[in-house]
Amino acid sequence: MNPLNDILQARLAEGPVPASEVMALGLYHREHGYYRRAEGPWGFEGKDYYTALDLGPLLGQTLAVRLEAAWERLDRPARFTALEPGAGRGWLGRDLLTAVSGPFAEALVYVHRDDNPAARQAAEAALAPFLSANRARFVAEAEALEPFVGAVFSNELFDALPAQPWRWDGSQWTREVLTTVGQEWQAADPGEAGAWFAAHTDGLELRDGSIWCEALPGVVRELAAPLEAGLFLAVDYGEAADRLLAKGADLRRFMAHSVDGKWHENLGEADLTADVDFTRLASLLEGQGLTELSHVELSRWIRAHAPLDEWGAGWLALPTPERMRRTENLLQLTLPNMMGSRFRVLEGWKAQG
Ligand SMILES: C[S@@+](CC[C@H](N)C(=O)[O-])C[C@H]1O[C@@H](n2cnc3c(N)ncnc32)[C@H](O)[C@@H]1O
Repeated sequence: MNPLNDILQARLAEGPVPASEVMALGLYHREHGYYRRAEGPWGFEGKDYYTALDLGPLLGQTLAVRLEAAWERLDRPARFTALEPGAGRGWLGRDLLTAVSGPFAEALVYVHRDDNPAARQAAEAALAPFLSANRARFVAEAEALEPFVGAVFSNELFDALPAQPWRWDGSQWTREVLTTVGQEWQAADPGEAGAWFAAHTDGLELRDGSIWCEALPGVVRELAAPLEAGLFLAVDYGEAADRLLAKGADLRRFMAHSVDGKWHENLGEADLTADVDFTRLASLLEGQGLTELSHVELSRWIRAHAPLDEWGAGWLALPTPERMRRTENLLQLTLPNMMGSRFRVLEGWKAQG
């Protein structure tokens, strides 16, 4: 029996449950939530989804280039802290730490922040050599973050925050809920979300709508405030606010590498994600003192920042299986219609106050 389903049924007896509440239960219930259970869901074999990190080190290598440029811009501080919230298995940190060298490597300290217990186990293994060399450490989500100079970066953190889908029905806003008979759209007051949506469309049409992440301002504040100076970088699924509204953004369920909209089924056993509203994320970061905010497709970001000619020469010298893997990694992250065009990268800068 699925324990989260029992909790949900009890909750449903009290009335309709908003989709965002179901997502919070499914992902973050302290014992049975998908991101709180003991066994990890990642990777290719028999798992629910894979991320850019499963494809190879290209994302981490390009991140290393961007962080080193930030370190240079900060005038090469002796300590450059790179905080990764939602760090999961720590693979991006591992790929970053493996890619850096010289004085930047000596300055860089990687901080993994994610209370996911299965991910923590995997991260301890992935980061082992860097943990013992004091080049990496863990912080718990409840721990207050000390002010630091360096960078905050994340991969697929914001799309994992509970979010609520809204739709315009031609005359009023409706929100997606679960009732005892299934998924429904019911009229409700959208509050701040309604004002945001109205400000980001030329005119609403039937079925226009987007998702609203209630927790986003708090998470952004928590992560951006301790950054005294440096780079904020987020890689995620999502689009600008107007594009999300026009497409009618939804919640998605990933299970055994298939995707659908049945966000209330197999709670705790399936991953749930929501598109990230990059316009709102940038606007909230601006409110935290970040400037030069921009977001582009991951494929464009890689092509703009990775010295592919230089790296390509090195890849040619690798044994065939590894060379093929690097090629696949490059194609997946740079060709149209592949992973690199489904993700975006946001960057912002905090100047020394
Ligand atoms: C989709 S997974 C991504 C994991 C990893 N970045 C990757 O790409 O494989 C989202 C992760 O974010 C974590 N998470 C959610 N909210 C968080 C928060 N406020 N602070 C830190 N981690 C958080 C979850 O526990 C989960 O491990």
